Parts: sequence; C-alpha cells; structure tokens
Amino acid sequence: MPGLLIQPRLPWLAPLAGYSNLPFRLLCRRLGAAVACTEMVSAKGIYYSLYPDGNRKRPVRLPELNKINDQKGKGTWTLLASPEKDSPLVVQLFGAEADIVQIAAESILELFADRKVYFDLNMGCSVPKVVKTGSGAAMLSNPHNALKVARALIAAAGAGRAGFKLRLGWLNGENIYLELARELEAAGAAWITLHPRYGRQAFTGKADWSKTALLKQNLSIPVLASGDLLSASAAVECLEQSGADAVMFARGAMNNPFIFREFGQMLRGEKPSPPNAKELAAIINLHARLARSWLDEGYALSQMRGFIPRYVHNFPGVRALRQQLTACRSWAQLDEIIATFIQGKELSGEQIWK
Ligand SMILES: Cc1cc2nc3c(=O)[nH]c(=O)nc-3n(C[C@H](O)[C@H](O)[C@H](O)COP(=O)(O)O)c2cc1C
Repeated sequence: MPGLLIQPRLPWLAPLAGYSNLPFRLLCRRLGAAVACTEMVSAKGIYYSLYPDGNRKRPVRLPELNKINDQKGKGTWTLLASPEKDSPLVVQLFGAEADIVQIAAESILELFADRKVYFDLNMGCSVPKVVKTGSGAAMLSNPHNALKVARALIAAAGAGRAGFKLRLGWLNGENIYLELARELEAAGAAWITLHPRYGRQAFTGKADWSKTALLKQNLSIPVLASGDLLSASAAVECLEQSGADAVMFARGAMNNPFIFREFGQMLRGEKPSPPNAKELAAIINLHARLARSWLDEGYALSQMRGFIPRYVHNFPGVRALRQQLTACRSWAQLDEIIATFIQGKELSGEQIWK
C-alpha cells in the first residue's frame, strides 16, 4: 500500500496537545499545511472507553465518526473528530503498553473504515503527566519496550501507515535516537520525526539539527525535521542543514499560521509575504468560524482567547488585548474586540510581523 508522500514542499502541522484540533488543522491546511497531525490521543483512554471494566470479551460499542463530528463533545474520542476534507490525517497516539496501543489503533482504523488514516507514536513528549506513565519521551529510557510498542502499532496500522516521533534520548547526552530509529526502520516504520533535544531538556537549549542530518544519513525511510522551526526561513535553513525530507511546524504555526504560505513562497524562490491586517482579520474570523462549528461553544471561545494574542503578538497593545479577551464571554464581544484591534492597526499602518 503506498504511504504518504513526504517531500520538502509538503510541510506538516505537528501534533500539538491543546492546539492541533480540527479547526486549527483545517485552518493550517488552508494556508498550506500538506499533512496534519491530531493532538496526542491516549491509547489507554481509547482502550478503557471500549472496555470500561477491563474485560476484553465485552467491549462497549465503538462510536461512529459522523456522530463524533456532530456532537462537539468532550473526552478522548472527540480528539478524533475529522471530516474527509481533513486529509491526509495522522492520528498521534501515546501509550507504553503494546497490547493497548494495538487495540487503540485497530479501533481507530475501524472508526475511519471508509478513510485512509495514518498513525504516529509519541516518543517525544516531555510533559510530566505523560512521562509519569512511561509514555512520550520516557519511552526512550526503555528502547526494548519502545520497539515492542512500535511493532504492535505497525502490526495494527499496516505497511506504510505508522511513523514515530522521537527526541534524542531521555537524559542529556544519551543518544538513543539513532539506534532506535534504525530498529524502527527495520520493524517497518514509514517515517521518523526527530525533535533533536533530550527529554530532560523539555524546550530549553537549542534543537540540534546536526543530529537530524546524522539520522537522515543513516536511514532509508523519510526523516521529518522538528524543533525550533519558528519561522519559514528557519525551516528552509533546517532543510538545507539536515537534508530532511520534510519539516513539521509546531510553535511556529501556533504563532503564525501563515508560516505555511511563507515557507512555500521561500521554496519557490519568492519573497515571503507576511499577512497584512486584512488577511489576518480574515484568518482570525475563519478560525473562529471553524472553532464554533466544530467545538463545544465554551471550548471554542477559550481556544480563540488563546490563539488570537499569539496571532497578533508582534503588535503593540497585545497585553491590553489579552486582558479584554480574558474578560470576553460572547462571540459578539469577541468580534468587536478583534475588529477594533485590527482596525486600529490598519489605520495607523502598523506592521503585523516584523
Ligand atoms: C503546546 C505544545 C503541545 C505539544 N504537543 C505535542 C503532542 O501532542 N505530541 C507530540 O509528539 N509533540 C507535541 N509537541 C511538540 C511539537 O510537536 C514539536 O515537536 C516541538 O514543539 C518542537 O518544534 P518547535 O520548536 O518548532 O515548536 C507539543 C509542543 C507544544 C509547544
């Protein structure tokens, strides 16, 4: 079965817990993201929702995708809301138990029976809540188990449909990634994404793209670069330095979803065009519309309160805007706050992104 096309001109939206939900994925696709990942989904969460009493002979009925899409609910399954146009989609799982990851992946494949979805396994998250369970970057402390879980995921997903997202290792200086990635390749991994920091580092220090280059030299399967791709030019530089097959935008996209457009322009040898105030207002409005149509009302509003200050972070007056947004309780109020803010910037001719 042919896998995903992984090429430099096809940038990915990274898995981003709390951010890469359906509305943000659709927004980023509109601006040039070629592939998008879900937020990390707990394999255990899926498993225990199907087998609440742990009895594998008595599963609860699998929810239906169109119901999940319509319900604007809460909980693990909601993270999988996705209409057809949200393709190609990579579902990111986290979990450290092979059988549970396998069952979760099989259930998700059943959920998406009419659609081809891909999987990624999180071996990079350094958040204590995840690490405590042995998942995320903690998996790098136990490569033997990491491989066992990987094999189970590959068995469930099928050839060409499972990738793995790694950091360098857990402890600083402990370079697990190269050997582990080689073994993952041998086990049938379709791609490897590397965020070249150690788990313990969290987000401190710098991403070491030379490690991405080394990984690329040692693998035949595609390598995706992650880490400090905070601007389109950083991503182009990273591609040049590492020889990676494609890039994955994370914080860069959260702060400026136009990063996908700018990246495409740079690869084509064009001058990147940051958005003007009108375009920015249009994209904020689109994001709000998408959030309202796909998310629970209260959650949608809180998402927008979080995203908007990021989108306009280079404007003077963001602090006041943030305060207004914190107090904002309705969509009408939100529209007014944004319109006034953007209009003020337009009139004064202030630049959005320097
Ligand atoms: C808010 C936030 C949430 C994240 N959630 C996930 C996640 O769910 N799964 C994952 O593998 N990585 C996650 N990451 C890591 C990113 O996917 C990415 O690898 C990392 O931010 C490095 O890229 P950057 O420096 O360009 O942001 C998250 C990062 C941030 C900032």
